[in-house]
Amino acid sequence: MRDLAGKTAFVTGGASGIGFALGRAFAEAGMNVMLADIEAGALAAAVEALRGAGPDVRGIACDVADPPSVERAAAATVAAFGRVHVLCNNAGVAGGSGIDAIVPDTWRWVLDVNVMGVVHGIHAFLPHMRAHGEGGHIVNTASMAGLISGFGFSPYAASKFAVVAISEGLASELAPLGIGVTVLCPGFVRTRIGESGRNRPARYGAMPVPDPASKAGRLAAGVAEGVRTGMDPSAVAARVLSAIRADELYVFTHPEMRGELEARFAAVLAAMDAAASRSSGC
Ligand code: NAI
Repeated sequence: MRDLAGKTAFVTGGASGIGFALGRAFAEAGMNVMLADIEAGALAAAVEALRGAGPDVRGIACDVADPPSVERAAAATVAAFGRVHVLCNNAGVAGGSGIDAIVPDTWRWVLDVNVMGVVHGIHAFLPHMRAHGEGGHIVNTASMAGLISGFGFSPYAASKFAVVAISEGLASELAPLGIGVTVLCPGFVRTRIGESGRNRPARYGAMPVPDPASKAGRLAAGVAEGVRTGMDPSAVAARVLSAIRADELYVFTHPEMRGELEARFAAVLAAMDAAASRSSGC
């Protein structure tokens, strides 16, 4: 989608961090913007902060884990702006620990928001985007954790691997319709992701806090430091806008992480080579 001005973008997780930066970048590119978020106070402040940044910026309360909530947000956006062209399934939460300490409710919460939130967004908006026939673009926020996993990150990495897989499948399905797909895979970005527990609904129980002296606790401290010194979200948003205009599937913002990606691929390929040598009788 080369021309963004005059079009409409819907951004989940739009009250903070990367979603807010995307909202600002879309507004500054001349788009109407609907920010959707579970955190009402932060959402109102975000809409206020973007007043005048673009033609029309509005907000809607939305829990991406709840299908009717996403359907209502989609209907409200269409009612407000007519056609929606850019859908950003960006809302996400992080929770993790050593595998034995991850309670099932944490798995459910992270997968409901990070995976089902993306699925609900696609289901609510794709029929509309297909029907208006003007083309469009879907941006799904994954992470480098969607390609590299490690200690303590099982729910988060599982959710982000799923987002990468969903996006890759969607890209080939939607290309004939003129709807592009981008999967955003950043490393650390300076946002409030480390305080995800602020939006953990009561139905998932309390947010477990790892013992700071444990391996999981030290990992959490390392992640917090990575986020504190991470990339500015506005730089991530700028890369996303270029990817929409150029119809790029993958957006990587941290090329310094290439070595970790290569190590994973090398291990997978080595296992394939081992399988090949076994089947050839070597
Ligand atoms: P953030 O915490 O600053 O923003 C996330 C937003 O999502 C918040 O406004 C929050 O209220 C909203 N949210 C949480 N649960 C929700 C729900 N059920 N329904 C609707 N909105 C909900 O964090 P950040 O970093 O901006 O997160 C955005 C995305 O970027 C997430 O998908 C995250 O996993 C991803 N990401 C973040 C990285 C980082 O280092 N900050 C790195 C890689 C990916």
